Amino acid sequence: MRAAVFHEAHQPLTIEEVEIEKPKRREILLRTAFAGLCHSDLHFMEGLYPFPTPAVLGHEGSAVVEAVGEDVTYVKPGDHVITCLSVFCGECPQCMTGHPNLCENTEVKLLPGAARRLRWKGDVLHQAFNLSVFAEQMLVHEHAVVKIDSDIPLDRAALVGCGVMTGVGAVFHAAKVEPGSTVAVLGCGGIGLSAVNGAALAGASRIIAIDTNPSKLERAREMGATDVINASNVDAVKAVRDMTGGGVPYSFEAIGLKLTAEQSFQMLRPGGTATIIGMIPFGTKIELHGADFLRDRKIQGTSMGGNRFRVDMPRLLELWRQGRLKLDHLISGHLKLDQINEGFAMLKSGAPVRNLIDFGVS
Ligand SMILES: NC(=O)c1ccc[n+]([C@@H]2O[C@H](COP(=O)([O-])OP(=O)(O)OC[C@H]3O[C@@H](n4cnc5c(N)ncnc54)[C@H](O)[C@@H]3O)[C@@H](O)[C@H]2O)c1
Ligand SMILES: [Zn+2]
Ligand SMILES: [Zn+2]
Repeated sequence: MRAAVFHEAHQPLTIEEVEIEKPKRREILLRTAFAGLCHSDLHFMEGLYPFPTPAVLGHEGSAVVEAVGEDVTYVKPGDHVITCLSVFCGECPQCMTGHPNLCENTEVKLLPGAARRLRWKGDVLHQAFNLSVFAEQMLVHEHAVVKIDSDIPLDRAALVGCGVMTGVGAVFHAAKVEPGSTVAVLGCGGIGLSAVNGAALAGASRIIAIDTNPSKLERAREMGATDVINASNVDAVKAVRDMTGGGVPYSFEAIGLKLTAEQSFQMLRPGGTATIIGMIPFGTKIELHGADFLRDRKIQGTSMGGNRFRVDMPRLLELWRQGRLKLDHLISGHLKLDQINEGFAMLKSGAPVRNLIDFGVS
């Protein structure tokens, strides 16, 4: 089967013929349908986070089950699924206290470099994020997928596998936004727009979207933003503070920069919470004014929107059916696997929201 192989930072991915193992106990073999190009993959391709190579990246996907290993009861061949990197065991302290996205069982959620599921030219090819979606097939633990109805379009479904779950989940699970409140979202890519949509679903009365690209701000209005700020012209912190008479109770950083992470905290009113969704380059420290903590301001991270994906993703798809979750607005285009480098160049330019690799399954 073919896969896009990541060799080293700043080098293009190459499309190679690779080998995949047969499913072992509790594993399932998937035929990939769609793979979303998320900025997290780009951070790895730019060397901002370490990962063993050669590897197959990709973590936002939908697929059809092709074969199942021993003791798999959850799915059968032909089932449609969304994949999620938040593989869970269901037994460890994190899983048992309601945080399966933080599962710490390394036999189920394999550490980087541990999986032996892919091979290229006879050697180990590393599986990224327990998934490796940039490939025609995936071999994953059965706890890395959620079943979905077969009438859901698989491109919409793929988006839910990371970007939508993360953005909406940051609003509901991490920040627990209250109805009637005001929210600011920095960065209106796939994740930020999903946070905007999530804030609208949560009943926020004012949603301030911030980006440097005017087309993204237009898209944010379609997703529910009531106000927009073009951060290439103005100081976003000053603008938010002026608009709100002193700051917001909830801010979300969905870019992955030191500057915007600091801004997300600076734009809080007393008692407010900043949620950092973006992957700030590994090793980078963010600086905050210590006195700001004296007025109950808080800053927190979120891993994949604090998901319990087997429950949350079907709920999100139902909200899409009802027209309340705007998945259609997030899709910029479909690409073929051999156009993947072009797709990432587009993502880097900030122009598209989500391009998806179409593997021709649906
Ligand atoms: N925490 C998690 O579990 C998790 C999950 C998925 C993605 N992420 C991270 O979320 C971030 C966003 O991902 P994405 O796929 O939506 O990215 P994206 O590239 O699609 O969107 C980023 C947006 O930020 C805008 N932007 C860039 N610089 C800006 C600035 N200085 N001020 C305002 N806007 C600016 C761009 O125009 C773009 O619209 C990334 O860092 C990604 O790694 C984290
Ligand atoms: Zn992602
Ligand atoms: Zn666990």
